[in-house]
Amino acid sequence: MSKLSVRELDVKDKRVFVRVDFNVPLTDTGRVSADVRIRAALPTIELLLKKGATVLLGSHLGKPEDADPKLSLKPVAEHLGRILDRGIQFAPDCIGPKTKEIVTKAPKGAVILLENLRFHPGEKTNDPEFCKELASLGDRYVNDAFGTAHRAHASTTGVAALFDRPAAGLLMEKEIEFLGRVVQAPARPFVAIIGGSKISDKAGVIANLLPKVDRMLIGGGAVFNFFKALGREIGKSVYEPELAKQARELAGDPRIVLPADMVAAPDPNSESEAHPVPIDAIPADEMGLDIGPATAKLYAGALAGARTVVWAGPMGVFEKKAFAHGTESVARAVAALTETGATTVVGGGDTVAALTRFGLLDKVSHASTGGTACLEFLEGKELPGIAALADAE
Ligand code: 3PG
Repeated sequence: MSKLSVRELDVKDKRVFVRVDFNVPLTDTGRVSADVRIRAALPTIELLLKKGATVLLGSHLGKPEDADPKLSLKPVAEHLGRILDRGIQFAPDCIGPKTKEIVTKAPKGAVILLENLRFHPGEKTNDPEFCKELASLGDRYVNDAFGTAHRAHASTTGVAALFDRPAAGLLMEKEIEFLGRVVQAPARPFVAIIGGSKISDKAGVIANLLPKVDRMLIGGGAVFNFFKALGREIGKSVYEPELAKQARELAGDPRIVLPADMVAAPDPNSESEAHPVPIDAIPADEMGLDIGPATAKLYAGALAGARTVVWAGPMGVFEKKAFAHGTESVARAVAALTETGATTVVGGGDTVAALTRFGLLDKVSHASTGGTACLEFLEGKELPGIAALADAE
């Protein structure tokens, strides 16, 4: 699924519309509180500037129905200016005569960030008139917004179709390369680690990856669906009955590895009452909130020697110290594998947040900037924002 790269575009003296995913968290006072996604777009912006382009950035922020000042991208423009150490022009709208004037009058080599694309309903509905207006601002189109590639919106699909050679940005390329390697041609042994609080958003990933992996280690809430399917007592642990059938079908699969023990407590706030329990002894009035110490060892052993690892979803409630050990020990095992030359790919907002907390984010081969987009890619779905790009020539 090789796509045309921004590297192949002739962009000298051209205005390049770049769809980025600057959907980042803001503090109550309107400052950017986590800028991983902004930094991830810098290589494409810097490449375009080096090649003599004027860069026109478009993004959404949040889910506004209409123009909502709390979801303005202005603070993001200021943040981008600080980290790029240069002036960024901010256009207070993304279409209309005023925007056109700002864009056409901008000096060559300028970087302009347009206001939140979702302030216009036409972005989500992929409205043809909105697409035309947006497309009229640029001479070339690049999509670097992997995190939004699962949305068939104007800026990710309709606008791309109005350009001759819609190309992938460097981040988009990297995401496709690493996630594609996992899904299509993993070096073996290939181990998947599936966790997270809910199993429902991972059911498709489990179904698509299980036939490809050598082992699949299960943690987080998914564990209890399997335990329930095996007739075990799970106390008050999270459980999604609608997925009981899938769990029953998969529970006996020899590639599935389930925990040997858990850390249990009455609830996630009762950290002082946390204690390890064997899997068949979760008390009726308690819940499993992390994999136990024996499981952490078991999983480190199951990971040993892997050449490809994909990890989606923490092993427990890692935000609380008493339930963080399982996620941290898996993170350390994955980081150690990266050192040995294995390809290690981590996806989903919570897993990336966990690695960040343990200071290990740069110890994996690739940390995806996509949440749902990453999961849908791992499910084997075609993402509209990627399908809309020209194939590599
Ligand atoms: C994300 O944060 O997952 C992407 O930016 C997509 O955002 P959305 O769910 O609002 O479309």
